[in-house]
Amino acid sequence: MLDDRLTVMLDMAREAGRLAQKMRTDPDILQTREKGPMDLVTAADLAVEAHLRDRIQALEPDVAILGEEGGLTGSGGETWILDPIDGTVNFSRGTPNWAISIGTFDGTALTHGVIHAPDLDMTAWARRGHGSYLNGQRITFDPAIVDNPIMALGYSPRTALADYFNEIEALLDAGIEHRRYGAATICFLGVLAGWFDAFHEGALNIWDAAAGLVLIEEAGGTVSHDPFEAFLAGPSRVTACNARFPRGVAGIT
Ligand code: IPD
Ligand code: CA
Ligand code: CA
Repeated sequence: MLDDRLTVMLDMAREAGRLAQKMRTDPDILQTREKGPMDLVTAADLAVEAHLRDRIQALEPDVAILGEEGGLTGSGGETWILDPIDGTVNFSRGTPNWAISIGTFDGTALTHGVIHAPDLDMTAWARRGHGSYLNGQRITFDPAIVDNPIMALGYSPRTALADYFNEIEALLDAGIEHRRYGAATICFLGVLAGWFDAFHEGALNIWDAAAGLVLIEEAGGTVSHDPFEAFLAGPSRVTACNARFPRGVAGIT
C-alpha cells in the first residue's frame, strides 16, 4: 500500500528514468568514462542523482542522503539511499537491464524501496509492513519447494575471483543453475518476478541493495547482509532468497 513518501519516490524514479533514457540517445551528452575496473559513470548517472537529490530536499529537507555518485550529505534520523543508475555498463551499451534504485533507512531498518527499470517497463515498490508490489501486483512468494532452482549471481572486482568461481562450482555441484545480469537491481526484480529463486553477490554497496532488500523481505523472502552500521560504511556480502530456494546451499544460503 502506498504512502505519501512512496508516491513521491515512484514519481521521482519515473522522472529519473525518462531523463536517463533521453540522455542515452546522444553519446556526446552521455560522456561515458571509467571510474575504476569494470566501473563506468556517465553524465546520466550524475544528472539522475542530482535530480533525485533536489526532489528529496524539497520533500524532506532534514534527512541524510547517501548516493553512489555524491556520497553522504546532510544528517538526520532518516537516510535516503540512492543508486541513480544501477547497471551503468548495461545502460551505456543500450541493453535494458538497468534501473533506478531508491531506498530509505530509519536508523534501524530499511523502510521503503523503489526499483524502476524503464526499458523493461518494470517498477517495484515496498513499504515495511505493507507488502511488496511489482507493476501494481502484490507479490507473495509461494513456499512450495521448487524443482529446478536458479540463482542470479553477481560479481565485481570487489570480490576475489576465486570466491566467485567457488560459488559457481558449488551451485553447479548442488544442481542449481546460475545467471549473471550485471545489475543487482535487475536480479532483485528477477526474484520478485519469478525469473530466479535467489540472488547473491559477494560484495555489494548499500545503494545497490537497499531497495531490493525491502522488496524481497516484504514479499516473504529472506535476506542476509552485514549489520547496517557496517553496510552503510562499506560493501557487504548480500543474499536474497524467495520462500522456495533451498537453504544451506553451498555455503551461500
Ligand atoms: C553494479 C551492478 C553490478 C554489480 C556491481 C555493482 P553499478 O552497480 O549492480 O551488477 O555486480 O557490484 O556495483 O556500478 O552499475 O551501479
Ligand atoms: Ca549499483
Ligand atoms: Ca550506479
